[in-house]
Amino acid sequence: MSDRASDVIIIGGGIIGASVALELQRRGASVRVLERGEPGREASWAGAGMLAAQDPDTPECLRPLARASAEIYPDWVSELEQESGLSADLRCEGTIYLTQEKKEGLGPPLSDADVKSREGFLSKAPFAYFTTEASVDPRALMAVAVAAAKKGGIVISHEHHVTAIETSGNQAVGVRLGNQTVSANVIINCAGAWTGEVVGGEIETHPVKGQMLSVVPVNSREVPLKHVVRGDDVYLVPRSDGRILIGATVERVGFDKKVDAETILKMHRAAMELAPKIGEMRIHESWAGLRPGSPDKLPILGETGLKNYFAATGHYRNGILLAPVTARIMADVINGDTPQFDISRFTPSRFS
Ligand code: GLY
Repeated sequence: MSDRASDVIIIGGGIIGASVALELQRRGASVRVLERGEPGREASWAGAGMLAAQDPDTPECLRPLARASAEIYPDWVSELEQESGLSADLRCEGTIYLTQEKKEGLGPPLSDADVKSREGFLSKAPFAYFTTEASVDPRALMAVAVAAAKKGGIVISHEHHVTAIETSGNQAVGVRLGNQTVSANVIINCAGAWTGEVVGGEIETHPVKGQMLSVVPVNSREVPLKHVVRGDDVYLVPRSDGRILIGATVERVGFDKKVDAETILKMHRAAMELAPKIGEMRIHESWAGLRPGSPDKLPILGETGLKNYFAATGHYRNGILLAPVTARIMADVINGDTPQFDISRFTPSRFS
């Protein structure tokens, strides 16, 4: 039995799948997103949403994409918010880095007085820096993206688990969905940590677990923190509704989303060391998500060895930040246009 065809099938309804779908649909394609669970309930739900385009840990070759994505973020979000009528809680207050060691690439250090004037409740640290890095609420962003996508005519199918790529010769012609084949001219694997589980035209990804918690004020809805704060052990990401997210572990333990109480308490203690006021707040939630890792920790973008089968995955710790630029790059590649960026370091074929 064959389901109805679309121009493009996207495997995976996280922020990357949704963003690529939106961009392709804007450029005239009919797009269907097949999500094995609920859209946006994996890494995109778990992420903190820091748009850390100046992070000194970002590999050099990824920085142009990170910077470009951060630059287009406000307009990209604003358009989607208008289309959906929802808010993604984009906060452009900037980020304070508090570190024990000098960091290169973050600009001149801030004095204690500078830190105090920006953020009243932080502990002193030997080095402090300010960047203009913004943040977004990835759960809200997903709701915005899904609503905008549906409004634009993109079909997003929940509980649709693609198990394999259907081929004819060296060409992808559709996907296997249970005992059905769904055909399409173009197939894009955006399945995050699950990318490599799709049989045929294998793409190597692995899950990298991150545990997090959030705290909320006990008595008021006042946001006690304005900026994102990044310490050596944990980061703090405030939301406009008063929550502060504290993250995150980086663990290679397979597809395991268990939350470990001791680990959460350790992060809570580290957060209190950065901002003692956190101790006056109530623990609200703890959770774990699986980031999509790749063998060299870089995204995997472009056509695979199988004609018409593309990958947009492996964004590791930067999926939320890189979503808009990934969408543009993928739409260019799929339409046969030259992307604005050199993506030779990110091609799926680099591992073969
Ligand atoms: N993007 C933040 C993290 O991976 O923890």
